[in-house]
Amino acid sequence: MTAAVLLEAVDYSYPDGTRALHEITLSVAKGSRVGVVGPNGAGKTTLLLVLAGLYQPIRGRIFVGESSREGTAVDSRFSVLFQDPDDQVIFPRVLDDVAFGLRIERCEEERAQRKAREMLRTIGIEALEHRHPARLSGGEKRLVALAGALVTAPRFLLLDEPSSGLDPRARRRIIEFLRSRKETLIVATHDLELVLELCPRTVLLDEGRIVADGATSEIMQNGPLLTRHGLEIPYSLRREHIHPIMPDDPHHRRHHEEGIPHTHGA
Ligand SMILES: Nc1ncnc2c1ncn2[C@@H]1O[C@H](COP(=O)(O)OP(=O)(O)O)[C@@H](O)[C@H]1O
Ligand SMILES: [Mg+2]
Repeated sequence: MTAAVLLEAVDYSYPDGTRALHEITLSVAKGSRVGVVGPNGAGKTTLLLVLAGLYQPIRGRIFVGESSREGTAVDSRFSVLFQDPDDQVIFPRVLDDVAFGLRIERCEEERAQRKAREMLRTIGIEALEHRHPARLSGGEKRLVALAGALVTAPRFLLLDEPSSGLDPRARRRIIEFLRSRKETLIVATHDLELVLELCPRTVLLDEGRIVADGATSEIMQNGPLLTRHGLEIPYSLRREHIHPIMPDDPHHRRHHEEGIPHTHGA
């Protein structure tokens, strides 16, 4: 396995002293897709921002490719989709917002606009090109922010709650789109169904520590583990969903018609 990024015993504390990450050791293979899950306050967002080089660990080391990362310079190999798109979408026109990363890289203006337009089309939001980001819905803003994160062709794409605020169609489009990408992908989310579809590997965080790291298929079926850490088995893996009661069972049918979820032995 080629470790594209490696964290070794990384600790992080916020300036007010809140310890958000403890002894995080994590190796992510090139081109892999990893879901980072855990309850509120587990440290998911902090982990992404440390990975991106936006926060400096107080202890431990980070290697990107062969070399240890030093100093505080922004690491342009990483793009982050922030949890709150308002932290990301800043220009008064969508196209300029998406082109911003390219302008920072001193890309020629005409080319920057062309690439930004292409990215809007790829994500299926070309109709938003001339809109004012502040007047978009939360989901639309998130898609604009995603276009901005991808347009610089980063090697690592770090997504913080990418599906939050998206309607089912936009969520589906994003999942299919991300599946087709070659970037190394790390997704922090509460949306376990998204992780099931997108990420073969899952890292479970709680209170700033990695409490499980393994195959998504196994972690997502481990009810006691998930419950201990504030999560639950995704709906699509639950038994009553996989083995529905026969539809001609009158008890089931009544519940079904009334939209009441059926429970065994009820
Ligand atoms: N700017 C901050 N200053 C102080 N503490 C913070 C700050 N941001 C987050 N934290 C704390 O760090 C811990 C991890 O937070 P976070 O990484 O946002 O968790 P998650 O994304 O899993 O919900 C929590 O205890 C949170 O309260
Ligand atoms: Mg978070």
